[in-house]
Amino acid sequence: MHASVASNTHTYIKKLAMSSSLPCSWATPILPSSSSSYSSSRVVYSNPTAPENAKPRRRFSCRAKNDNQNAESSNKFDRRDVLIGLGGLYGAASSINPLESSAAPIPQPELNTCRTATNINNGQPVPYSCCPPINNTIVDFRLPARPVVYERPAAHLVNAQYISRFNLALQRMRALPDSDPRSFTQQANVHCAYCNGAYTYPSGTGTQRLEIQVHNCWLFFPFHRWYLYFFERILGSLINDPTFRMPYWNWDSPDGMYTPSMYLNQRQYPALFNERRNQRNMTRPADLGYFGTDNNLTPSQTADNNCVIMYNEMIRNANLLEHFMGEPLRRGDPINPGAGTHEAGSHTAIHIWGGDPRQPSGEDLGNFYSAGRDPLFYAHHANVDRMWTIWRDRRGNLPRDFSDPDYLNTQFLFYNENRQLVRVRVGDCVDNLRLEYANQTRGVNIPWTSCRPRARVSGTRAAKKVEAPKLDAVEFPLKLDKITKVLVPRPKKSRSKEEKDKEVEVLLISGIEVDTEQFVKFDVFVDEEEDDFVNLAKAEYTGTFAQVPHKHETPLQIKTSRYLEVTQQLEDLGVDDDDEILVILVPRAGDITIGSIKIVYNPSN
Ligand code: C2O
Repeated sequence: MHASVASNTHTYIKKLAMSSSLPCSWATPILPSSSSSYSSSRVVYSNPTAPENAKPRRRFSCRAKNDNQNAESSNKFDRRDVLIGLGGLYGAASSINPLESSAAPIPQPELNTCRTATNINNGQPVPYSCCPPINNTIVDFRLPARPVVYERPAAHLVNAQYISRFNLALQRMRALPDSDPRSFTQQANVHCAYCNGAYTYPSGTGTQRLEIQVHNCWLFFPFHRWYLYFFERILGSLINDPTFRMPYWNWDSPDGMYTPSMYLNQRQYPALFNERRNQRNMTRPADLGYFGTDNNLTPSQTADNNCVIMYNEMIRNANLLEHFMGEPLRRGDPINPGAGTHEAGSHTAIHIWGGDPRQPSGEDLGNFYSAGRDPLFYAHHANVDRMWTIWRDRRGNLPRDFSDPDYLNTQFLFYNENRQLVRVRVGDCVDNLRLEYANQTRGVNIPWTSCRPRARVSGTRAAKKVEAPKLDAVEFPLKLDKITKVLVPRPKKSRSKEEKDKEVEVLLISGIEVDTEQFVKFDVFVDEEEDDFVNLAKAEYTGTFAQVPHKHETPLQIKTSRYLEVTQQLEDLGVDDDDEILVILVPRAGDITIGSIKIVYNPSN
């Protein structure tokens, strides 16, 4: 019986996932406190970015196709279907026990077995307690039957009135006692608890317990979406405005690349300020290729690099679901199976870029246990979350979400604005509109969709290849302590369009062994002839592996993989007929060992 309920739910969710977003409609302007509007079924766009003297709320349709975001939020969706479907989903949700079905998602955390996490301070482990208050009453999250959508504004476009309310909300959150699960301290600790080995589950053999880790796997986007969702609801409730939506830091566009000024103005907005940041970087544009040391790029070179990095992460290297989202992680699996393009790339770069080099472990942004203590973290992750939405909206007829019940039924626990402990499912968060928020699109460009990089035109590629060792002449595991070149053979070449549509060519780097306590990063280039590893705005730059430091109890050393799609890159470089490609690994930070490098062909989703 459980199985059939589960599979119905599964089909339903798949259907939802395959269909488009909820229909949007013309909004009725509302006041923030108007509860009748809040419970209507319309999409309402507040307008925190209007000039202050303008009318505070303006009608706006989300069908406007001013960019890719929301471009597909048309009315493909039958509302009746949604409502009937939701009823079925609720009914089913409470009767599914994922542990009883054949599927086995990572179990939900147990608060009463939460253990003290560990941090590293000057090479010494330091216990760091980040467990939430224990509560035995858990309620299941229910999606609103008639969602009303409010916009998260771009942080660089909000007006002073919005900033004051945001500052007030955070000030009140900071003023709550640490024992209150809504307090800023507890909210920051949520990240630590899920990322630094505080939550574990029984392994099934003996007394051994396995750690829960939400990074470097397919849980990355859903976990952080839920985390921000509750953080935002708590902020809203502290200023009696359930329509409050948090700002996103638009670092993917030159207009928003600098740290939004509201976070830097200690005098006016003390609750948004944080001392523990890289102060030098606070005056420069965010560097999405950052590796911990200054590369002396001009702001416009940084913008060029950023644009290509985004293009690669969001488009060129992100055709397969798992390559964007991260690799599957199920009950019993070793953690860190592999991060998606965006998690390993820009997301990690901003953490390291923003962390304070004067602190022992890059606090606050530069280490998982402390990242949530910086208000900038939430604006950063709101943009990461926005990237998930944009990526899904660009999928057309391709699958947007894993249909695997092990993914959809993974559960997390969060405290909500009423201090209730809520159990949520990954499957309920894949569509942000159903969680009643969208991201501002007006006045926000997405420049990187047109940043497909060009290759240099020169005749020396073949000559360069002669100098590099063949793959079988290189000894693995390979310690990556210097720039390393290797000729990697391609099992298939000159494939037809049909063959390429069926299978994506992937440069698979596996058995990557790193110490989780360190910031580690290496960049990958293919057929780069001039040994220029500073300029990333070119087709020769493939992608990166990088990881935000975090301490686990076990294992200290992790093994993970990086999947880099190269189909389009090899076409653009004009080397699609070559038998082998010149792969160049450029270590940027930390100690890294590599187990193997090869070309594989992954079936398209
Ligand atoms: Cu949970 Cu940006 O990290």
